[in-house]
Amino acid sequence: MRQKIVAGNWKMNNDLNESVALINQIKEALVEREDVKAIIAPTFIALDKASQLLSGTNIGLSAQNMCSEDSGAFTGAISANMLKSVGCEYVILGHSERRTIFGETDKLINAKMKKAIASNLTPIFCIGETLEERESGEMKNVIEKQVREGLDGISESDLSGTIVAYEPVWAIGTGKVATPDQAQEVHAFIRNLLKEMYSEELAENTTIQYGGSVKPENAAELIGQKDIDGALVGGACLKADSFVAIIKNA
Ligand code: 13P
Repeated sequence: MRQKIVAGNWKMNNDLNESVALINQIKEALVEREDVKAIIAPTFIALDKASQLLSGTNIGLSAQNMCSEDSGAFTGAISANMLKSVGCEYVILGHSERRTIFGETDKLINAKMKKAIASNLTPIFCIGETLEERESGEMKNVIEKQVREGLDGISESDLSGTIVAYEPVWAIGTGKVATPDQAQEVHAFIRNLLKEMYSEELAENTTIQYGGSVKPENAAELIGQKDIDGALVGGACLKADSFVAIIKNA
């Protein structure tokens, strides 16, 4: 059985005090479940404190990005080992905002994936098409390219445990959620691609999250689909009650 995982990507929200408050609210409201794992991804400045606050809970801690290099003259960057040193276990890589706003390429994301895995961080590997790509019939080609290039040179044993997040760009922050059928179709496509590239075993064991306007009201139906194993939540994870409700409905 694949584990269901609901992760909250805080994006560039919450200063340190606000982060502490939100984590405490989540801890208070969340009834931990064996079958659904919760992960939060605050900003870099809150990770150290978050890891202290989360100790003794089952809530996982993720960063939102990292550098592909170990150390040195990379102003403004944060390395995998630095994330590990503050207690991070996961890192979101390839988010569409990193791809579009910060110009990250599949090649760079691939280097980050390799570095994260080598550093014992579990990647949450994000992929997804734009509306234009979907409407022009290019969706599957785009997804396939992101998967093949993002995972290039990564062995099956190294990839095992990696979380994949399908986030259609047109559904992110727009309130336009993919229908359960639309999402399921792409999730099945991604799982099949993993089977082709690796093995049935790896494909069946890989958690594939859906992201894009997930709310308490639509979470159950989406996550109820055969190949949808959880959610990567943006806006709705900034309030403890809606984040916790999504986990409850998963
Ligand atoms: P929204 O839930 O705000 O659409 O954001 C999704 C997302 O980008 C999570 O990484």
